[in-house]
Amino acid sequence: MQIKKAVIPAAGLGTRFLPITKSVPKELLPILDRPMLQYVVEEAAEAGVEEVIIVTARGKESIAAYFHPRPELEQRLSETGATELLDSIRHVSSMAEVSFVIQEQPLGLGHAVLTAREAVGDEPFVVILPDDIIDHQPGVISQMLEVSAQYEGGVIAVEQVPWEVIHNYGVVDAEDRGNRTHFVKGLVEKPAREDSPSNLSIVGRYILPPEIFDCLEQTPPGTKGEIQLTDGIQLLLEERDVFAYEFRGTRHDGGTPMGLLRASLEYGLTREDTRDAVSALITGLSTKMAGS
Ligand code: UTP
Repeated sequence: MQIKKAVIPAAGLGTRFLPITKSVPKELLPILDRPMLQYVVEEAAEAGVEEVIIVTARGKESIAAYFHPRPELEQRLSETGATELLDSIRHVSSMAEVSFVIQEQPLGLGHAVLTAREAVGDEPFVVILPDDIIDHQPGVISQMLEVSAQYEGGVIAVEQVPWEVIHNYGVVDAEDRGNRTHFVKGLVEKPAREDSPSNLSIVGRYILPPEIFDCLEQTPPGTKGEIQLTDGIQLLLEERDVFAYEFRGTRHDGGTPMGLLRASLEYGLTREDTRDAVSALITGLSTKMAGS
């Protein structure tokens, strides 16, 4: 079945980016010249998703504004012959059909997904976290759709992390099925190293059946009063098969200032129009460091 809808939760407080997130949503912070949100909408559109549902919060209206056309700006750019810039802003409003739902309170990722229930309806959908930016062609959602078609089940993106840091992550208990794919038996949030069933950490990409909504309705709030998506998926395992997929690509943690800085440098080194300048910048900085 073709998956047509994506949910992008973007209603969190972004506390790790304070003070900037007092007035600028984390999801609009840039990697080079584009907000993180744009990278994930592009990834969804590339995978054939037609409708993107962004879960946002009061006070984060600039997220919706980013996707609205700006006719007066377009006219100005057109008059001055700035065609590349004109194309770049037109591209933003044409990537996919984008709609918004409001999460009244930041009650957790699971709750954010549940807020999109009516907008998704009774069909499978993808969930993409905009602060996990993954560089690869084809994109991770495209890769996961192939797995979902082959195995007929939900799919969670995972990556191996060093055992020493496993206590910072959500982890899957899973059986290897080959081809980077694992059958999921359970999920554990932030396990101690000695209790962890694997070193496969959950990354912010999911393909979920609509049954997840009933599971999330039944999920009690966990630590900090938040409804966790992993707890909802744990309930889902009782009725549906779910697979973990070790995606191809490099993940950047856009949820922290250092992760975002690193992502900007790495993307800068791969993009043709910025490669030379970013490379010179890094060389210049390391020469300066070596001299000091
Ligand atoms: P995070 O936990 O990384 O984001 O959630 P956060 O809570 O905004 O950031 P910190 O931890 O305070 O720094 C991952 C994604 O889920 C969304 C966030 O906006 C982010 O895109 N989210 C999180 C919601 O939409 N609602 C929530 O209640 C929690």
